[in-house]
Amino acid sequence: MTTNPEGIFALSAQQIRKSFGSKEILHGINLDVKKGEHIAIIGPSGSGKSTFIRCLNLLESPNHGTIDVCGERIFDAAEKISAKSVRALRKRVGMVFQSFNLFATHTALENVSLAQRLVLDRSRTESEARSEELLERVGLKNHMHKHPSQLSGGQQQRVAIARSLALDPEVILFDEPTSAIDPEMRLEVLSVMKELAQGGMTMLTVTHEIEFAKEAADRVMFLSDGESLATGPAAEILTDPTNERLRRFVNALSGVI
Ligand SMILES: Nc1ncnc2c1ncn2[C@@H]1O[C@H](COP(=O)(O)OP(=O)(O)OP(=O)(O)O)[C@@H](O)[C@H]1O
Ligand SMILES: [Mg+2]
Repeated sequence: MTTNPEGIFALSAQQIRKSFGSKEILHGINLDVKKGEHIAIIGPSGSGKSTFIRCLNLLESPNHGTIDVCGERIFDAAEKISAKSVRALRKRVGMVFQSFNLFATHTALENVSLAQRLVLDRSRTESEARSEELLERVGLKNHMHKHPSQLSGGQQQRVAIARSLALDPEVILFDEPTSAIDPEMRLEVLSVMKELAQGGMTMLTVTHEIEFAKEAADRVMFLSDGESLATGPAAEILTDPTNERLRRFVNALSGVI
């Protein structure tokens, strides 16, 4: 359910441009995300999907544009940004990576607790209690004392989701969260993500999982060569695309020639 009672977007990115060296990769992307909305970002390899969402929590610094979170300007490429503001933004806009990025030497519980202690100053007791609750929520109650190497890819990704949730973010960005996971383990991750979306979490997901996007996303944005060529309701964009490039892309992903 998406609502926007005050007309304030959970996340608003305007005119985002990003270059690497002299090559511009993103050519001025606009995206407004309502509170509780789930947006799937699709597009060919190299179109700039990862670069775009990495810009949204400043893992990449846009060369041009602004980013607002819940109506508050947190980035303007025209102004210098402090390391403190970057840290503040990352608390509010979490990220889940394709490759999980867990600490190999820490258990699942420790992985979820650590950032809470470092970033939110929570006590050990408080952070562990929250971690246990979240690990139970992602179906890992019986695995919390295991290290990443003792967990499947799907389980590791669910730890990473719990870790992201532990910071109580306003938005979570997912970059191809299931593409490094065995096919049969993907569903457990997608099902946790569906539950999150249904529970009202604001989410942006870069994905090639068209069926998942149809089912779990409110809107879909199609990126091609660093430009947003189409954005609209998932059913409309994915079922009967009018944009020719989008139609070819969706057909290729669905195995239709
Ligand atoms: N750190 C970097 N330095 C230079 N070029 C980069 C860097 N990161 C990305 N690029 C280039 O930017 C373009 C977009 O890359 P990006 O990773 O955002 O694409 P993508 O849509 O996420 O692709 P994929 O579906 O393969 O993950 C590519 O041409 C890539 O080579
Ligand atoms: Mg990518």
